[in-house]
Amino acid sequence: MLSNRQLFLKYLGQTSDNPCLLEIEKAEGIYLYGPNGEKYIDLISGVSVSNLGHGNISVKQAVKEQIDKHAHLMVYGEYIQVPQVELAAYLTSLLPECLNTVFLVNSGSESVEGAIKLAKRYTRRSKIISFNNAYHGSTHGALSVTGNEELKRSFRPLLPEVYHINLNSINELDLIDKNTACVIIEPIQAEAGVRIPDNNFMQELYKKCKELDVLLIFDEIQTGFGRTGKMFGFEHYNITPDIICFAKAFGGGMPIGAFVSDKKIMNSFTYDPVLGHITTFGGHPVCAAAALANLKEITKNNIIEEAKEKGELLKNNINGKKIKEIRGKGLLLAVEIDSFDNILKFIKQGIKNGIVTDWFLFDNKSFRITPPLTITKEQILETCKIINKTLEEL
Ligand SMILES: Cc1ncc(COP(=O)(O)O)c(C=O)c1O
Repeated sequence: MLSNRQLFLKYLGQTSDNPCLLEIEKAEGIYLYGPNGEKYIDLISGVSVSNLGHGNISVKQAVKEQIDKHAHLMVYGEYIQVPQVELAAYLTSLLPECLNTVFLVNSGSESVEGAIKLAKRYTRRSKIISFNNAYHGSTHGALSVTGNEELKRSFRPLLPEVYHINLNSINELDLIDKNTACVIIEPIQAEAGVRIPDNNFMQELYKKCKELDVLLIFDEIQTGFGRTGKMFGFEHYNITPDIICFAKAFGGGMPIGAFVSDKKIMNSFTYDPVLGHITTFGGHPVCAAAALANLKEITKNNIIEEAKEKGELLKNNINGKKIKEIRGKGLLLAVEIDSFDNILKFIKQGIKNGIVTDWFLFDNKSFRITPPLTITKEQILETCKIINKTLEEL
């Protein structure tokens, strides 16, 4: 009989020739459990997904209650389904007034697709500005705005009229002009290795977009829902985007995404012609119920404020000769060390020592520290001890 590892390699499409191959049977809180009693502290959170930790009771309850009522009924946008309606109303109550209309989708990539399409349709322009080292997803449109040539090369032609500029390069903002439909940016570039734009740059970008009626899209797929110590990444800059993209942590572990905008912008999908974006499973009722429970939990207690303090605690207690820099906000952190070789060793040795971490798509000298926001201060100190010990063992 084949082992689960052999079945995984034989029957599942592989994304690389070097998958992590950790077998996980159960997950609870900040811990992942293997089939033979192995226990790991999760420093990845499924890539900024499990903000409340694994197995949150309210989220599980919402899933159970909704599945007992109904699962999928009809394509998005036709029937009135309570979980979708309640979720959209709650989400917009957390956002500024001009982000008042929610389009529910399935994933981060789909939310980026929807946001870009919406910007083109609303402005009737076609040029798009994005950033080098940005990651926005793997479908053709989202890949087009992703800022890494290696990932894109073999899929060309991609979307035309997409231009990438460098983060914090104010001069390059001149590329934004009257033909530009939108600029898409992550409030903190996550997969670039957690790179924080300068506040000044963000203000200039915002000004330029306003001057030229260019829509500003924030991809908050990794930064959203408390991860950076604020509910949303845009709050760090005091500016409001025209369209905002969500996924990952939105569903509390269930697959759901959204893009949100002002009604007058969103309405351009509705008319001339109709069906500007359509999706069968977008806003799946079970996922929407989970997302609502998740948002209510995240906004309860002090989870978000504490994420900021916890990030500082982590930063202050991680040390080692190999560390070059620790970057980030809240619990979206990157620890940069000396080489990719040592990153690989660190990840392997970390698993032996009981922590799981990962490198970033576009930064192979840093490992990520993005634990569930519910990690306690004691658990942080325990985690830091393991990180430091693992660094010493390299
Ligand atoms: C910033 C950002 N945008 C978009 C995506 C794409 O999301 P998904 O994998 O759900 O399609 C990701 C995924 O890692 C991401 O980090």
